Amino acid sequence: MTVVITIDGPSGAGKGTLCQLLAKKLGFHLLDSGALYRLTALAAENQGIDFDDSEGLAQVAASLDVVFEPAEGGVRVMLAGKDVSTTIRQEHVGMNASKVAACQPVRDALLRRQRGFAEAPGLVADGRDMGTTVFTEAPVKVFLTASSEERAKRRVAQLEQAGREADYDQILADIELRDKQDRERESSPLRPADDAVILDSTNMTIDEVLSAVMNLVKQLP
Ligand code: DC
Repeated sequence: MTVVITIDGPSGAGKGTLCQLLAKKLGFHLLDSGALYRLTALAAENQGIDFDDSEGLAQVAASLDVVFEPAEGGVRVMLAGKDVSTTIRQEHVGMNASKVAACQPVRDALLRRQRGFAEAPGLVADGRDMGTTVFTEAPVKVFLTASSEERAKRRVAQLEQAGREADYDQILADIELRDKQDRERESSPLRPADDAVILDSTNMTIDEVLSAVMNLVKQLP
């Protein structure tokens, strides 16, 4: 049987780091569903598709030529043979991803691809609607959150560590706008599944978050 662990929550709550650690610890596959929305936004931008053209966007999503390769310290993302691992992490790509993600035909086009990641022995699925839409039968569902101020602080630290400039007020405003877009859209809005465990990581270290989730996994029959 393939065990699926879903980790949903707003941007910057620490889902990415948590999911990588969990997948490594358990020897499970990893689905970074946000990357698929980011790739759709980037490919649409490259192909000059308008963000209001839902059929055009859905076609881009359905025909994404993407390969996720294991790389040192994470995953290398190849789009049409080109390494876009860094490009898709840019703030404007995240904002565009949030826009294309509101388009139901795009979500439909990505659904089967996401479910295809569930292979033995198990999957850790990172996103916004993993527990509510994509893997509704998952035995462990977590909704990881943190205050928007804490999430902005973590993003600033991450950017500064990478030697990039970071404006706290701008980042906080972007986070709040993206939360609003993701929470208020009609298609699979960001919300905890009814059977999700809600974890607020505002005052928790990543190790504390990891052990809280591992405790849930250990309770599995
Ligand atoms: O997790 P992320 O920041 O890489 O996600 C980028 C955007 O993609 C996010 O603002 C909303 C969208 N998204 C989504 O709608 N559903 C998912 N399962 C994952 C991401």
